[in-house]
Amino acid sequence: EPVPSFDYVIFGATGDLTMRKLLPALCRRFAEGQIPADAQIIGTARSPLDDAAYRERGLKALREYVREDEFVDATVERFLGLVHYVSLNGADAEGNWAGLSARLDAAGSERVRVFYLATAPDLYGAIAQNINEKGLRTEQSRIVLEKPIGTDLATARMVNEGVGRHFPENSIYRIDHYLGKEAVQNVIALRFANPMLERLWDRESIEYVQITAAETVGLEGRGGYYDGSGALRDMIQNHLLQVLTVVAMERPSSLDADALRDEKVRVLTSLKPLDRNNLAANVARGQYVRGTTRGQAVPAYREELPDEAPSNTETFVALKAEIDNPRWQGVPFYLRSGKRMPEKLTEIVIQFRAGEPGLFGAARPGSRLVIRVQPNESVILPLFVKQPGSTFGLDEVDALSKLGEPGRIRFRDSYEGLMLDAVKGSPALFVRKDETEAAWAWVTPILQGWSEAANGPDAYAAGTWGPDSARELLARAGHQWVEDAAA
Ligand code: BG6
Repeated sequence: EPVPSFDYVIFGATGDLTMRKLLPALCRRFAEGQIPADAQIIGTARSPLDDAAYRERGLKALREYVREDEFVDATVERFLGLVHYVSLNGADAEGNWAGLSARLDAAGSERVRVFYLATAPDLYGAIAQNINEKGLRTEQSRIVLEKPIGTDLATARMVNEGVGRHFPENSIYRIDHYLGKEAVQNVIALRFANPMLERLWDRESIEYVQITAAETVGLEGRGGYYDGSGALRDMIQNHLLQVLTVVAMERPSSLDADALRDEKVRVLTSLKPLDRNNLAANVARGQYVRGTTRGQAVPAYREELPDEAPSNTETFVALKAEIDNPRWQGVPFYLRSGKRMPEKLTEIVIQFRAGEPGLFGAARPGSRLVIRVQPNESVILPLFVKQPGSTFGLDEVDALSKLGEPGRIRFRDSYEGLMLDAVKGSPALFVRKDETEAAWAWVTPILQGWSEAANGPDAYAAGTWGPDSARELLARAGHQWVEDAAA
């Protein structure tokens, strides 16, 4: 589809996210001809830079974060020609709004304007207010809000109200880049385009679900943000609960943005509340100590913090969620995410129920449908087949479907599609206000319970799959994490 011409204003333009993700995503889309030659990308931040100095930084980031084989000098140079910089503190009404306004007005007020907020979320309200009161918000304007939206339910509401006073909800795009991942979107296709799976997708057939997002990295110099956040806020409240909604939602009446999001929000509001006085029954948290990842000795979390301060921040969470509706009654959804795990791996495992003992002797273990989100986007379904050559011996083989042929189609980075969806005005893969708040409503008692708890997180060695408490969480129900079952 053709993308209309646009102005993209990024607040927080010198930050890590802009450099690592936003500029590379726009550059790749530009290289694929998706960005009109008269578009403007306007970075704003407090640093006193001019266009040339900001482009210099952009170039450095693109060199680092765009794969070498995708990096074409001439294209990057043309792309950087669309990039501008206005030195402006978005939260300050006295800032250089005139400078930003002049740049936007020169392009005209008919074009789509996207204001992308990638600053600290407590500034979102003030920035939205300034954009509006300085007259920069046009008919065709949208505002994109990066996570985290708040740090608990109360602050999330404050952010939403603060922005909502200045932008109508249908122009507010809350980004969750996990919804930009091909394999997450594919869950919707898999479930609703295959009648076989659609029929099996409930408590009658499914024993439990596991959703894992594991990372090998540690703090990556983001201690300032991360230590105040932790894995529950950083990954579970948003990314993993979003994945859970697409796995669990009822069939939407259409693929229309609100039809889809209505169903997602119903899943979130049907999550059984956790008892904050008995959290250990459903939630395990951990913090890594020294260990080894990929053959490298790595320091403990605390040692990675700037001042090696004592910290109770969790770098790992595993929890058991249950959805109180007829489809999922009694089916555990095990969610887990951590830093310094053995692999970078995001995966959804659908564990089907075991069969009765029968023709082939003992009870057959239930099948396990694995949806690999990253790396190597694929869907794997192990099947028992007759062992060739034997009379009726069995072999287990994997029916495997790769999403796209490697080398032939390039998987877009999750930000690429989403950033342009905001331009096109397609909010389906963005998070609605009620969704964010429902997710926070479920997560906040966990935070409260932890803050009142006598014990902090359990230790786990870097390079392992988390503390024993994560294993015990499943063992109590007779279940196992997928890599324990394989071992
Ligand atoms: C971000 C978190 O939202 O997601 C990071 O803030 C995390 O801590 C990242 O590393 C993981 O994203 P991805 O796409 O690499 O799985």
